[in-house]
Amino acid sequence: MTDLLRIEDLAVEYKTRRGTARGVDNVSLNLEENKTLGLAGESGCGKSTLGRSIMRLVPYPGKIVNGKIDLLLHEDIVFPKGVIEKGFVNIMDLNEEELRALRGKEIAYIFQDPMTSLNPMITVETHFQEIMKAHDPDIKKEEALDRAQEILDGLGISPERITDYPHQFSGGMRQRVMIGLGLALRPKLLIADEPTTSLDVIVEAQILEEMAELKELFNLTMILITHNLGVLAQTADDIAIMYSGRIMELSPTEALFEDPLHPYTQALLESVPDVSKPDKKLSWIPGAPPDLVDPIPGCMYNPRCKHTMDICKTTQPGLIMNDEERLVACHLFGGEK
Ligand SMILES: Nc1ncnc2c1ncn2[C@@H]1O[C@H](COP(=O)(O)OP(=O)(O)O)[C@@H](O)[C@H]1O
Ligand SMILES: [Mg+2]
Repeated sequence: MTDLLRIEDLAVEYKTRRGTARGVDNVSLNLEENKTLGLAGESGCGKSTLGRSIMRLVPYPGKIVNGKIDLLLHEDIVFPKGVIEKGFVNIMDLNEEELRALRGKEIAYIFQDPMTSLNPMITVETHFQEIMKAHDPDIKKEEALDRAQEILDGLGISPERITDYPHQFSGGMRQRVMIGLGLALRPKLLIADEPTTSLDVIVEAQILEEMAELKELFNLTMILITHNLGVLAQTADDIAIMYSGRIMELSPTEALFEDPLHPYTQALLESVPDVSKPDKKLSWIPGAPPDLVDPIPGCMYNPRCKHTMDICKTTQPGLIMNDEERLVACHLFGGEK
């Protein structure tokens, strides 16, 4: 298997009046083609910032201050003002024109809130037509319509509903439309940021299932961002657990659920409800995620950790690989910065 994406030493800073927050702090990871990587962690730990960095769409006042984001292109990307040659391309080196050619076509991003991302004044069909025309001005209307309907069909939306307006759809259907629009240009990499967070659990399960089917159909590689670890159990091949802008653990999904290494991963899993164990006592993690404007020395998780040692208060642990080739950033497993 080859890597589609290689991120190296990525750092993103938000300069605010209170000071500078490192939303993403020295993140490195590789993502193989056709795999799904889950990004999980509490709110504010840097998941969206990491996801949006890959599109170079970090919102103001955020700025990527360091790192490489290499994406594998199987074919040249030809656009009106030039060509991006196939092979690995560092997204950090691209100019705005080149980024526009890449966005949607190679990488698509599905935002969390479908209502603010859909235009209430135009039909679903027009949404699809606009996206497809922007990348391929010569595309025939019928071809765009066919492609849109094929995608919507995969998401359980009947073809005739394509002439409806966003408000005529339920929340779950609108989210499906968003996912469909993300797939309109047949991207290789789909980044879905909390795609089911605002939905009830039944609709959530259906949509995750449909996404898994579309992933196979379109040979997608996916990054699925969620604060809910349970969502990733069935969908992700690997899971990266983030805390304070850093990756604390990166493991294959099964291993992570069976034998979580990092104390933070363990605490997160203890707070996931399990319907098969109704007697299990749910716990939560005391304290709150750290203020990234005012970082503490050592491991950022140490004030909430059950296993804090002296070294945890002074030295930040780096990600190390254990004997099973799992990655963990914790002094309990040795390693140093
Ligand atoms: N617009 C912003 N202004 C200032 N700081 C921000 C902004 N957005 C994010 N941050 C900082 O980046 C951190 C990570 O945010 P984010 O990536 O949105 O986390 P998540 O998606 O995991 O909830 C936040 O805790 C905050 O410190
Ligand atoms: Mg987010």
